[in-house]
Amino acid sequence: MAFLNNLLSKIATNDGHGENSPYFDGWKAYDSDPFHSTDNPQGVIQMGLAENLLSFDLVQEWILQNPKASICTSEGVNGFKDTAIFQDYHGLPEFRNAIAKFMAKVRGNTVTFDPDRVVMSGGATGAHETLAFCLADPGDAFLVPTPYYPGFDRDLRWRTGVKLLPVVCESSSGFKITREGLEAAYQKALDSNINVKGLIITNPSNPLGTILDRDTLQSLVDFINEKNIHLICDEIYAATVFTKPMYVSIAEILEEDKKCNRHLIHMVYSLSKDMGFPGFRIGIIYSYNDSVVNTARKMSSFGLVSTQTQQLIASMLSDEKFIDRYVYESRKRLAARHGVFTRGLMQVRVGNLQSNAGLFFWMDLRRLLKEPTFEAEMDLWRIIINEVKLNVSPGSSFHCSEPGWFRVCYANMDNETMRIALRRIKKFVLQTDEREVAAKKQTWHKDLKLNLSFRRCDDAILKTPRMVTPHMMSPHMTASPHSPLASPLVRARN
Ligand SMILES: Cc1ncc(COP(=O)(O)O)c(C=O)c1O
Repeated sequence: MAFLNNLLSKIATNDGHGENSPYFDGWKAYDSDPFHSTDNPQGVIQMGLAENLLSFDLVQEWILQNPKASICTSEGVNGFKDTAIFQDYHGLPEFRNAIAKFMAKVRGNTVTFDPDRVVMSGGATGAHETLAFCLADPGDAFLVPTPYYPGFDRDLRWRTGVKLLPVVCESSSGFKITREGLEAAYQKALDSNINVKGLIITNPSNPLGTILDRDTLQSLVDFINEKNIHLICDEIYAATVFTKPMYVSIAEILEEDKKCNRHLIHMVYSLSKDMGFPGFRIGIIYSYNDSVVNTARKMSSFGLVSTQTQQLIASMLSDEKFIDRYVYESRKRLAARHGVFTRGLMQVRVGNLQSNAGLFFWMDLRRLLKEPTFEAEMDLWRIIINEVKLNVSPGSSFHCSEPGWFRVCYANMDNETMRIALRRIKKFVLQTDEREVAAKKQTWHKDLKLNLSFRRCDDAILKTPRMVTPHMMSPHMTASPHSPLASPLVRARN
């Protein structure tokens, strides 16, 4: 194998694609034993895939009502030839217009987008790589707040030779991006002689499901302006924000902040999440920098959206009544699903980071770790995937700085599968708690026995006329924090 690899390029043989990670291993585990309600009811339920399947019925309805939008129908066949021969990397004007309008709509029409700045790419995946090629040289780096989407390791680094440097965010502040964290990461890069070319954020965040507030966004814009580096904002979950606080796009900040150098700012968008169409590979680069728009457009030849897809999407997104209904309904269904899952987990005392967007939430299983280490997190993850048969993704695969967090996707399954998934995880947590309580009870009994024998010993000592000094008292004489009585679970049961 090594001999064969010598014949290939460094890119082909290095593992910079980042696929050797539990994030992708979980998908493989699912693929080898996929859950099916009748054919394989004991199989693995896929909760590691950020798909949005909750509102597909509405899309299917629209397709049936609009046969002309599909060129392979008798109503649409007249458009077949023109569609088949069109190949311009600017894309169909009606497609770019519809995308620009849709981007504004899902951001509450608080901003407008110029269709001439809309550049196509093969999904957000392609958009990120194209931007990395436009903005950085091999060896240069982008700062990325943690935890972050594992695909970035592939999309931004693999073929470009660009580095990603983590900006550590911590659970104690709700994983907020702080100025101190940014400065520390920037300084670390300087100390290592690494040229920082930009900062990448996802808003809403994958994996946290949270959104950035206006002040944080403004502070990020200030930071990149001061350092004269780029800001890439991945906003591919913009339409999934299902409850307050209201979403603020980077485009709004730019419109308000007249001092900011807008040439440093670039957005990544896609219809993979907001419309649930990852298969169509509709990615968008929206840059405020003319040179980046021009270069990215030339590069887009490597990852165009097919004209057939552009045509269908242009037609669908231009149907305002449909889009209004879809976006409203999709948010409502996501909110309901998020609520059922998070409330269900609270019943077994499993918390999650408070969130209001995305197709997932960030589950806190720190209390189930044997010890607060990433090894213990992996041990727990293996149990969840192999025994509980749920593919949730461990925080370490998102470069989280603290062990015990897991991303749970909830919008890629039907209601019945969701109920089974919830039942499985609740049962697992209860059993783990029960085992824990039993183990603690045992230790407690042992301690008690020991205490009694100590007491007998103390009694004997006391019977002899000697002073008892504090250090002679057994530490077990006070109620141990490990006593089963200290566990709220036991108290509730009793
Ligand atoms: C934050 C983020 N960016 C980019 C992508 C890739 O999206 P696409 O399917 O449009 O390539 C994903 C997919 O999960 C994502 O979560």
